[in-house]
Amino acid sequence: MAKKTIRDVEVEGKTVLVRVDFNVPMEDGRITDDNRIRQALPTIRTLIEKKARIVLFSHLGRVKEEKDKEGKSLKPVSEALAEHLGREVKFVPETRGETLESAIASLESSEVLMVENTRFEDVNGKKESKNDGELGKYWASLGDVFVNDAFGTAHREHASNVGIASNTDEVAAGFLLEKEIKFLGNAVENPDRPFIAIMGGVKVSDKIGVLENLLEKADMILIGGGMSYTFMKAQGLEVGNSVVEEDKIDLAKSLLEKAEGKLFLPTDFRTATEFSNDAESRVADYDDLREGEEGLDIGPKTVERYRELLQNANTIVWNGPVGVFEFSNFAKGTKALLETLSGLDASTILGGGDSASAAINFGYEDAIDHISTGGGASLEYLEGKSLPGIECVDEK
Ligand code: 3PG
Repeated sequence: MAKKTIRDVEVEGKTVLVRVDFNVPMEDGRITDDNRIRQALPTIRTLIEKKARIVLFSHLGRVKEEKDKEGKSLKPVSEALAEHLGREVKFVPETRGETLESAIASLESSEVLMVENTRFEDVNGKKESKNDGELGKYWASLGDVFVNDAFGTAHREHASNVGIASNTDEVAAGFLLEKEIKFLGNAVENPDRPFIAIMGGVKVSDKIGVLENLLEKADMILIGGGMSYTFMKAQGLEVGNSVVEEDKIDLAKSLLEKAEGKLFLPTDFRTATEFSNDAESRVADYDDLREGEEGLDIGPKTVERYRELLQNANTIVWNGPVGVFEFSNFAKGTKALLETLSGLDASTILGGGDSASAAINFGYEDAIDHISTGGGASLEYLEGKSLPGIECVDEK
């Protein structure tokens, strides 16, 4: 059954509580990647057009003690949002109380208000993160309708998503949550085949659940990145100083057995004599990695092979870069695969995290059908788990 969305809800003049995930990376009070803010704009703009009174909730970082609040106010985020919207966003530096209540009570239709970091409620008691019953009920009492658009937080059962939802009569998905379900959810549940997954990143251990689920669901899995070397070592190959999870070698062996030929490993690598962009480097075949060098990227033969395999795909999900893309000399594989995906007719989906930032930084944002805003959430979704932040939204 499909989820209710903001298209299905009457919001004019109503106070609509919206959970967004504006947990954006910041340096010295400056937002370094505003993708999550930009992706939430369609929902907020639609609510503005529909004349709702809009109250936004988000967390930012992790807060345990009073001192952790330092640098984690959502004020700079509310200012960035105001710039994107081209209109005022009223910021209330409180998560509860009279100031917040009266600011909400005096909101006009189409006005936007942002509440302070929901995790400030975690100081002394983890009320937000433990989905404290009283807190969810209190926040729900501030509005009429709840819209969840925070896919990045959908794997959490917190007061500001599940808590508000379970105390609100009408709960709808925002457009971002809807889009994430459409692309990531469909890819895993009902993909247009052939369905090929590209899995990268440093650790096999981060992706065990995803690999196991995708081995059942995908037609092929192309491996890249640091996790390749654990698979190589599992086959008895020399990997030099390349990153290896020794305690996951047996698991890698059993995944290779289970895969029955569905799992493809790189056939060559770009190596380096040390973990540095300027290190001495060469291209080495998979069986020619030497002591004293480490693989930092997939090589040109692998790029060519993966490019050919991807030509036939109708659905491609990619999670994790295939090389150390932060180093320009070892970003070639990741860039080449982004270039390949950008030229295909297939439905192309990047599952959040580092591969998402690579696509955005290298200018492929518009060439990919969907770049997930979820890190942990997209991994759990790809594992086939049901996510509380999606479950809590009403069915149509
Ligand atoms: C994320 O960035 O993955 C989400 O915002 C969730 O944050 P959390 O891992 O701190 O719950």
